Amino acid sequence: MVNRVVIAGAGHAAGQAAATLRQRKFTGEILMVGEEPWYPYQRPPLSKKFLAGELPAERLHLKPDSYYAEANIDVRLETRAESISRKDKSVSLSSGETVRYDSLILATGAVVRRLSLPGTDLRGVHYLRNIHDVDVMRKDMLPGRRMVVIGAGYIGLEVAAVARQLGLDVTVVETESRVMSRVVSSQVSEFYEKEHRSHGVELRLSTGVTGFSGGSRVESVNLRDSNPLRCDLVLIGIGIEPNVGLAAAAALEINNGIVVDDLCRTGDPDIYAIGDCTFHPNAIFGRSVRLESVHNALEQARTAAQNICGEETHYCDVPWFWSDQYDIKLQIAGLSQGYDQTVLRGAPDSRSFSCLYLKNGALIAVDAINSPRDFMQAKPLIATKASVPVDLLADPAVALKDLCVQD
Ligand code: FAD
Ligand code: NAI
Repeated sequence: MVNRVVIAGAGHAAGQAAATLRQRKFTGEILMVGEEPWYPYQRPPLSKKFLAGELPAERLHLKPDSYYAEANIDVRLETRAESISRKDKSVSLSSGETVRYDSLILATGAVVRRLSLPGTDLRGVHYLRNIHDVDVMRKDMLPGRRMVVIGAGYIGLEVAAVARQLGLDVTVVETESRVMSRVVSSQVSEFYEKEHRSHGVELRLSTGVTGFSGGSRVESVNLRDSNPLRCDLVLIGIGIEPNVGLAAAAALEINNGIVVDDLCRTGDPDIYAIGDCTFHPNAIFGRSVRLESVHNALEQARTAAQNICGEETHYCDVPWFWSDQYDIKLQIAGLSQGYDQTVLRGAPDSRSFSCLYLKNGALIAVDAINSPRDFMQAKPLIATKASVPVDLLADPAVALKDLCVQD
């Protein structure tokens, strides 16, 4: 019988897990422990509307602050879960308290990957993961200033777009030969490179950074193979690492994240893990994956909470992601890694098209650029591993939902 659930972390996944427990009529105690000073909030606007100053901080929160007391969820902010005793089924907190659990949910998220190069400690060199990071960086983002963004992934490109909107000069430095290479095909990279250049962003691809120079503040970024870039501020967005220290110290299995099954349970049946920190099986793709997305955080949270409530629930979903840059909405469904063919639906010049990814003839992913209909209609085709004739896929006049499925 589960009477007490402790949740380590108070981010997106944690907030949803607590809410689902109450929605599913869990009447026991819930204690959520978060090291940040804020109640659970959404991170996506941090590199989009919140950074642009178009969304107030209150709108970031998943629930009004009053919800937690009303739902009888005990939230300890600015408190770390320091260690787990699996034998005693307890967690030690940075407050000095030790709390017991019947079920423990690890929702510890991820931390930014850091560059260990000379000068990263100079003022004006920023990373972006939480509200505080935005508050500090935003003060530096004044019109006319020169900003260098390291990393042309989601964070780098979204911030570059906002910085241009705010009137900064922007240069993006990327080690790979194309932007967003981790997640999209070369055709989609090419489209985004063109868009950023047309908005005045300078792209330095296939190049590396050797360090940062300046007096008390950063004044230039030193590149491996060309002259230093003069700048007033820098954003480093070179990916994340799953936050697994707490789980690893408790001898839970770690492999590219905290290893869980499709019930979101670790090797210890009383300990679950959810969100960015997990490495979990996905039956649709026939392999385990670590996903960095809100959808995954929310669905794993619901799965863990339902299993704690005794409703056996298996997590199996088509992953999806989105990115807003300028007036372009990118929506990705599925996982494109391992594709052997791509099909373009529509023309990139129209700024509304899709790139479909196939493996052995089956649709495994779609990147829909200003094409919400393709995004929605491709999902069931991906879930059913549909083999779809390429000429029909390529024809925008044929709705994806009408394509015959031949398994
Ligand atoms: P987190 O949100 O990272 O929450 C984990 C929390 O646990 C943190 O508050 C952390 O401080 C806390 N914590 C860690 N260890 C401890 C401990 N020992 N004790 C107490 N507390 C602890 N995803 C999308 O799908 N679409 C987007 O457009 C998108 N945009 C993004 C933009 C930005 C700028 C960022 C940073 C992320 C974005 N993401 C986006 C990713 C998305 O926000 C994450 O996938 C999601 O936040 C994962 O939720 P989580 O709860 O697993 O982790
Ligand atoms: P990312 O993995 O998307 O991109 C990192 C980029 O940095 C890659 O292109 C990589 O090649 C490059 N890089 C790595 N080392 C480098 C170096 N030394 N110099 C120059 N370039 C280098 O990670 P990103 O953009 O930092 O995002 C971090 C997290 O935030 C991820 O979890 C991401 O999913 C999430 N996020 C998601 C968004 C979305 O889904 N729209 C938006 C913003 C963030």
